[in-house]
Amino acid sequence: MNISRGFLLTGAVYLLIGILLGSYMGASGKHELAPVHAHINLLGFTLMTVFGLAYRLIPALAEGLLPRLHFWLHQLGSLGLLIGLFLMMSGSVPAETIGPIFPIFEGAILVGALLWLTNLLRRA
Ligand code: HEM
Ligand code: HEM
Repeated sequence: MNISRGFLLTGAVYLLIGILLGSYMGASGKHELAPVHAHINLLGFTLMTVFGLAYRLIPALAEGLLPRLHFWLHQLGSLGLLIGLFLMMSGSVPAETIGPIFPIFEGAILVGALLWLTNLLRRA
């Protein structure tokens, strides 16, 4: 699997979803979902595109197990966090019910970011 391509493509999918949600918010005047929209665009599109470009620019970063772990931790963490945030902020699931699962996804993103830093220290 090509890590750079994977990050760039998934980032582009998040951008489309972020734009659709932003357009809906603008048209409906319902801005309650702004934090979800912001993080779809930032955690999804922006960060994944930065990772994708960096893995392309510094090919040594993409070698071995570390980048694969980083990719899947960031993907699963972001997807879980964003779906959870959407369900909570749209009022579909009470915060007390869904709140306790957030640290799992935040932890995945955090461990991914630590692996990213480790990889950079070694190879960038
Ligand atoms: C056609 C595309 C887009 C539309 C229609 C749109 C629309 C909106 C709307 C209506 C809000 C709520 C503003 C408010 O409540 O004050 C918002 C917030 C935000 N948008 Fe977008 N947006 C778009 C694209 C993007 C992109 C591409 C990014 C980032 C890469 C982005 C980042 C943000 C952020 C960070 C906020 C939160 C700002 C805050 O809470 O202060 N948006 N957007
Ligand atoms: C695990 C990752 C992250 C978590 C748990 C998180 C959590 C939060 C929380 C709780 C807020 C306050 C929302 C509110 O006041 O309603 C926030 C706001 C914000 N975050 Fe994050 N964040 C994460 C990652 C990021 C990343 C990677 C970026 C940028 C690349 C980012 C950019 C922002 C911005 C611009 C705001 C203000 C926009 C707004 O109020 O909607 N966040 N974040």
